Amino acid sequence: MTRQKNKSFWSDTATRAPFDSLTEDATCEVAVLGAGIVGILTAWLLVKEGKQVTLIEAHRVADGVSAYTTAKVTSQHSYLYQTLLQYLGKEKASTYYEANEVGLSLIRQTIEELAIDCDFEEKDAVIYATTDMGKKKVMDEMKAYQKIGINGYLSYDIPDFPFPIKVALGIPGQAQFHPVKFMLGVLDEFIRLGGNVYEHTRALEVKNKEKQEVLLEHGNTLTADQVVIATHYPINDEQGLFFARLEVNRSYGVLGVPTKKIPMGMYINAESPSRSFRSVIGENGEELLLVVGDDHFTGRGDNMPEHYENLKTYAEDSFGVTEFTYQWSTQDPTTPDKVPYIGQMHQLNKNIFIATGFNKWGMSQGATAAQLLTDLIVKRGNPYEKLYAPTRSHLNPLAVGRLAKDNTLIGKELIGGKIAPSMEELEEVGLGEGALVKINGERVGVYRDETGILHKVSPVCTHMGCTVNWNQAERSWDCPCHGSRFDYEGEVLEGPAVKPLPKK
Ligand SMILES: Cc1cc2nc3c(=O)[nH]c(=O)nc-3n(C[C@H](O)[C@H](O)[C@H](O)COP(=O)(O)OP(=O)(O)OC[C@H]3O[C@@H](n4cnc5c(N)ncnc54)[C@H](O)[C@@H]3O)c2cc1C
Ligand code: FES
Repeated sequence: MTRQKNKSFWSDTATRAPFDSLTEDATCEVAVLGAGIVGILTAWLLVKEGKQVTLIEAHRVADGVSAYTTAKVTSQHSYLYQTLLQYLGKEKASTYYEANEVGLSLIRQTIEELAIDCDFEEKDAVIYATTDMGKKKVMDEMKAYQKIGINGYLSYDIPDFPFPIKVALGIPGQAQFHPVKFMLGVLDEFIRLGGNVYEHTRALEVKNKEKQEVLLEHGNTLTADQVVIATHYPINDEQGLFFARLEVNRSYGVLGVPTKKIPMGMYINAESPSRSFRSVIGENGEELLLVVGDDHFTGRGDNMPEHYENLKTYAEDSFGVTEFTYQWSTQDPTTPDKVPYIGQMHQLNKNIFIATGFNKWGMSQGATAAQLLTDLIVKRGNPYEKLYAPTRSHLNPLAVGRLAKDNTLIGKELIGGKIAPSMEELEEVGLGEGALVKINGERVGVYRDETGILHKVSPVCTHMGCTVNWNQAERSWDCPCHGSRFDYEGEVLEGPAVKPLPKK
């Protein structure tokens, strides 16, 4: 049974009150753009500091990537610490760990302080290996833990694990939760303290005048002393060349009813393709299984529906899941050194801030970001400012070299047509399918809906002009360059683009 296709369990099992759009000019002290975990927590922390805050959201609150995540709240980020040691050295790797533990504590304390009912459960975070190559990565990660001083443990046998493992590495005292219930709990408190929230209000641009002017989609302006761009992928990304410093990766998730017991922790494998799983408390208190993985660059690759099938096969083989109730996919940007950009967006303007590049680990770090941005805005010191500074010039050549290599490859392939989208004939596009076709010599993105009606858009991405690709799994147009996504009518689903694909 598929009850709800391509919607996350988190998004579907929490009730949101609707908010008005902002349709007139307005002013505030701090404008927060984007109501995900970063935007909501930042807005709340700032209003607690006595700031007059307006939070605007392009779609619905708490319904971006933070509502489509796996929602592990942990400092264990796959086998990242060996890479951080290599790229950044011991001190910064250790600061990264500490910053994540602080983010985890902030989430725990917030839940206690506001008594938010969001299925928060303390769990061990565990990375497991099933191959010799995976085992080596896990053992190297353990060495990194020892150097940094992370309290990890090795194990060779996990109770109730559904298949043999070579080795596993755990960190105790981590957590999982229902992210949307958490965000809505914080948002309620933000509003109670006098914060303003607007939905269906997309920010198009932030202009630096005497104050900061946020130009909105309805033609109005929100003027603020300071602006926090918490839009996931930052808008205004040409300032600071963020489009050249972020790559966007998409992953898939399936939720189903297991017929075997799920082990106690939260798990991720050390191999490729990635497999991350955790238990989820169902609406009637039953235990469900969430499996996430099968990642690829957004807008690249074909046969997207296959990714869901791969995860379903894993869930069935491992935990006997045959009944799937939800499936969804989502994406996150990554920086060259794998450390997010959190702080002042660029050198020349001290009043615009961003948080992005969470590398699929934005729960604990989303909270860290909210605290760091708040501290910067109220001009208080924060120990993690340097590590996360978006303007940092200490990017390790190893990290930069890897991204440059990838980007060069991407550039060459895009220009050389190797990953240029394939064209189809209009009559080959079936019901419920989309494709790029030539109409009167012009390239057009076409989707034929279930009733046979054609929806035609320009396939030229409104961000920087790359050609979008059809994503059959989500019925969307996805850009291979910086991950913008548009629905079949061309409306923006995810940035950096802020303008729709023109209709044809
Ligand atoms: C498959 C997957 C699994 C993950 N699992 C985990 C996990 O287990 N643990 C973990 O720590 N992290 C995980 N992450 C990462 C984490 O979910 C993200 O890093 C985090 O949710 C990002 O939060 P955010 O607030 O920046 O973005 P979002 O939640 O996307 O919020 C941004 C908001 O801004 C809005 N917006 C966009 N543009 C505009 C605009 N122009 N104007 C106004 N509003 C705008 C969007 O609509 C959205 O609501 C995962 C990521 C992926 C992709
Ligand atoms: S997202 Fe940048 S060109 Fe499309």
